[in-house]
Formats: sequence, C-alpha cells, structure tokens
Amino acid sequence: MSRVYEALKNAQDQQTIRGPLEAEATPQESGVGEPVHNGKAASRIPEILSAVRPEGAPPARLLQLEELQQRCAKPVWKPQLRWNVFPKERPCGRQAEQFHSLRARLYSLRDTRPIQTLLITSTTAAEGKTFVAMNLAQSIARQPGRRALLVDADLRASRLHIALGAPCAPGLSDYLAGESDECSIIQADSQEGLFFIPGGKPRSNPAELLANNLLRALFSRVLPLFDWIIVDAPPALPVADASVLAGMCDGVIFVVRAGVAAFDMAQAACGELKHKNLLGVVLNGVEEEAIYGAYGYYYGGNGTGGE
Ligand SMILES: Nc1ncnc2c1ncn2[C@@H]1O[C@H](COP(=O)(O)OP(=O)(O)O)[C@@H](O)[C@H]1O
Ligand SMILES: [Mg+2]
Repeated sequence: MSRVYEALKNAQDQQTIRGPLEAEATPQESGVGEPVHNGKAASRIPEILSAVRPEGAPPARLLQLEELQQRCAKPVWKPQLRWNVFPKERPCGRQAEQFHSLRARLYSLRDTRPIQTLLITSTTAAEGKTFVAMNLAQSIARQPGRRALLVDADLRASRLHIALGAPCAPGLSDYLAGESDECSIIQADSQEGLFFIPGGKPRSNPAELLANNLLRALFSRVLPLFDWIIVDAPPALPVADASVLAGMCDGVIFVVRAGVAAFDMAQAACGELKHKNLLGVVLNGVEEEAIYGAYGYYYGGNGTGGE
C-alpha cells in the first residue's frame, strides 16, 4: 500500500518536518540543506528562499464573484477514485486528514508571507503532482466559506480533467490562445467552493502560450475571489514550463514520489527551482510501514480512498 508523507518546511520558525528519508538532513541558514542519499528519492528539504509576488502583472479589471457564478460552467464532475481521497460517499480517511495537515501548514506559512498561488511540480512524470494538486484543492474548498481554484497548467499532458471527471475544454490553452475568456474556462462545483480550469484543447506551442503574460493577467483578475490558487504543472526537468510558471506563482511545492524519483534528478530539479519560491517537499507514496513506529507524523493512504 502506497502512502503519502508530507514534508513541507515551516518557514516561520525554520524548523524542519522530518520524514523517514529526511531524518538526518540538516537545515542550513541559507541555500538548501545538504541531502542524505538513500538511493531512491530526494531526501533534502529545500530552504524557503522567498515568496515575493512577481512584478509586471498587467493591471486588470477584477472579476466579480457574481459574474463568475453566473457565467462559469457547472458540469457534474465524476472524480476518479485512483486520484481522489475525498469521495463524497465516504467519510474522510487518514489520507484526506493528511491533506488537511498540509493545508494547515500552508496557512501557517501564509501568516509569514503573502502566498496565494501555489505551483505543484516534480522531477518527472507520474510522481503525483495531479494527485496532490487535486486533493489539496479539495481540502481547501471543503472549509466553509473558502474557495479554491485548481488550474491545469500541464498543457503537454493535461490530466486533471480525467482525475476530476470533468470536461477538458474550453480551458487554459484556449484562454492563452485568445479564444476564450476567463468565465468560460472556469468550471464550478455546485456544492463546495472548488473551481477548476482544465488544460483545454491540445496545442503545438505550450511554452509560448504559458509565457505570453495572459496567465499573469488571469491570476490578477481572479485572485481576490479565491483563498488559494493551486496550479498543476508539468515536471521541472524535461521542459522549462514549470520554471516559467513558478515565476508567476507565490510558492512552489515539489512532489517526490518515493521509489520513483532518482536522487540526482530530483536534486537537479530542486536546483532549477531554488530561486523560484520553493516552499517545500511533499514526499508521495511512502509505505506506511516505513514510517510507523519511528515517526508519528506521516501521510497515509493508497490513493484510492481506501484504508
Ligand atoms: N499516493 C498515491 N497512492 C496511489 N496512487 C497514487 C499516489 N499518487 C499518485 N498516484 C497515482 O499515480 C498515477 C500518477 O499520478 P499523477 O498525480 O497523475 O502524477 P503526475 O501528475 O506527477 O504525472 C495516477 O494514476 C495516480 O492516481
Ligand atoms: Mg499530472
């Protein structure tokens, strides 16, 4: 049974949340703590570098909630159990509780710095970026009166619409290509405060689209409506998209899937992002047995919502 372990660093007091892979890592005053190599996954927890909101976002008319609610699509979503740890028909399991813990950690980070847009990336594909983005957004949206916007910015391999069981277009690529406006690409959950922008139609030029500044404008317009904006990104190493997107977000969460990410590659990917508001690491897919006993703080669950 695979497990998720949250290892997000608390910026406020510079204390490190240590997981089984981080147990010997030493936080440092600047730069990134030295890694402990276990041969499987990156074991270091990156320092908080900064969380300065990027400059240069063009002034934009703010979107009004009423207008959004009237104009956005309201399809019936059918979340897939293999991604979803918040099935409506079942009470929250241990894994969902751990996403609530991650959420709480992010709120406490926000007490110390202005973070509202979060990029979720990883070294390579299939490490759980979409899994983490979707469940973190749901955890946020389940709080009374809070709204979260979940954005699929992995224009090369959009999957969030599959995970959520939602239409894939119109979406972000259509907005960035100038073919759709904000309201028409946003979908809403009728019951909770979760809003969703799917990837949209496949395009041949995702890098150009992501860099054309329309995404900044979109964030500027919708930011006041949402508690958090969670951006599901491509992996950091193969293409520059994640780095470009990180420059538009207030913080980056780096997902490392235990047993999948090669240490050297994860280290290189973290290096790519270390000047881009890297907040911390979520270690995904950790076996419960690897953590029980020695550690009381862990992520549990198998990605199916079952225990
Ligand atoms: N903790 C987990 N436990 C079980 N399955 C997981 C877990 N995290 C991710 N998965 C599954 O692994 C696959 C890849 O995850 P995904 O989130 O799509 O990766 P990425 O977005 O990084 O490419 C999906 O089928 C997803 O359901
Ligand atoms: Mg994905």
